[in-house]
Amino acid sequence: MSDYRFIKACWGQPVDMTPVWLMRQAGRYLPQYMEVRRNVSFLQLCKTPELAAEVTIQPIDYLGADAAILFSDILTPVEPMGLKLDFAPGPVFENPVRTQADIDALRIPEMEEDVPYVLETIRILRREFEGRVPLIGFGGAPFTLACYMVEGKGSKDFAQIKRMMYAEPQMYAALMDKVTEMDRLYLNAQIEAGAQAIQIFDTWGGILSPVDYERYILPYTTRLIDGLNRQGVPVIHFVKGAGTMLELVKRAGSDVIGLDWHISLNKARTLLGTEVAVQGNLDPTVLYAQPEYIEQEVKRVLDENGDRPGHIFNLGHGILPTVPPEHAKFMVECVHRLSAKG
Ligand code: CP3
Repeated sequence: MSDYRFIKACWGQPVDMTPVWLMRQAGRYLPQYMEVRRNVSFLQLCKTPELAAEVTIQPIDYLGADAAILFSDILTPVEPMGLKLDFAPGPVFENPVRTQADIDALRIPEMEEDVPYVLETIRILRREFEGRVPLIGFGGAPFTLACYMVEGKGSKDFAQIKRMMYAEPQMYAALMDKVTEMDRLYLNAQIEAGAQAIQIFDTWGGILSPVDYERYILPYTTRLIDGLNRQGVPVIHFVKGAGTMLELVKRAGSDVIGLDWHISLNKARTLLGTEVAVQGNLDPTVLYAQPEYIEQEVKRVLDENGDRPGHIFNLGHGILPTVPPEHAKFMVECVHRLSAKG
């Protein structure tokens, strides 16, 4: 069994203090990240294991977070499926998927051949972190990946993917089958390389109604989680905007459910029951506030959890690039100090 408080909390075991990390904890809000980024593009950074490892370590050194998350992007394994990827700074695919022929042309990557840099970064980090912090690997949920593949970039209304889903359901299913299989192989390759937990990001899962979430997303995420070789490796499932359908998210079968800030932690835990752990859920923009306010909000979230085991403190979504880094560090310190037992 693991001694890491993050891993213990994932399994709902007692901990000496609440573990904490921040989604997007490596990134542009850190001057040390910008220093590395000055000389290389974001994609090049992801593809250079020594540099990707360096920026993964930065927030551990600076913030004192209880877990590290691999530096990469959810779209890294989509590029070798045959889509040309760029970041500007949001992701852009030059040749989005729109037709059955586009779907047929997608290939399932050979992970060791097509994304060796991701697996090498994991191996470097495991050596660097041994005995210090556990390493979280991650991927996008099939639906969120499909959103970017079909829209070609971020979107306000997601008309293209929804058009495919409602008007061409067989095409949608064929695409989701392929993306789910790629995802399964990709996350299993990360586990094999040494990832000690896996987080699945479904950033856009909340754009569907609960009934459509159940029809068009849940079967694929469930299949993905079922297909992971997760002996001893906890799976965290974060669906942004899912406060009204957490019981469906629970059915996908993860060990931990990530929460955004639209639902109170207390209400979510009451609804989900104690057999599943939770992660969250401070509004990321609270980190703009003065320290006294940040401390008060950290306390509020901890109080909402109360004595229940199985809570990992996090933001309800990624940290924003314009947040003062010392505020993030202060938040981590508050979580530890206010939750310390005895
Ligand atoms: O959390 C971490 O520190 C690990 C690294 C990480 C990145 N992206 C680095 C990144 C993780 C876990 C992701 C996941 C990711 N990528 C998601 C799911 C989480 C979420 O935020 O909802 C999504 C939807 C993406 C796709 C993506 N990549 C977007 C929308 C953007 C632009 C965002 C922005 O803030 O402009 C990216 C680029 C990206 N991914 C950056 C980083 C550090 C910024 C790149 C840069 O240095 O310019």
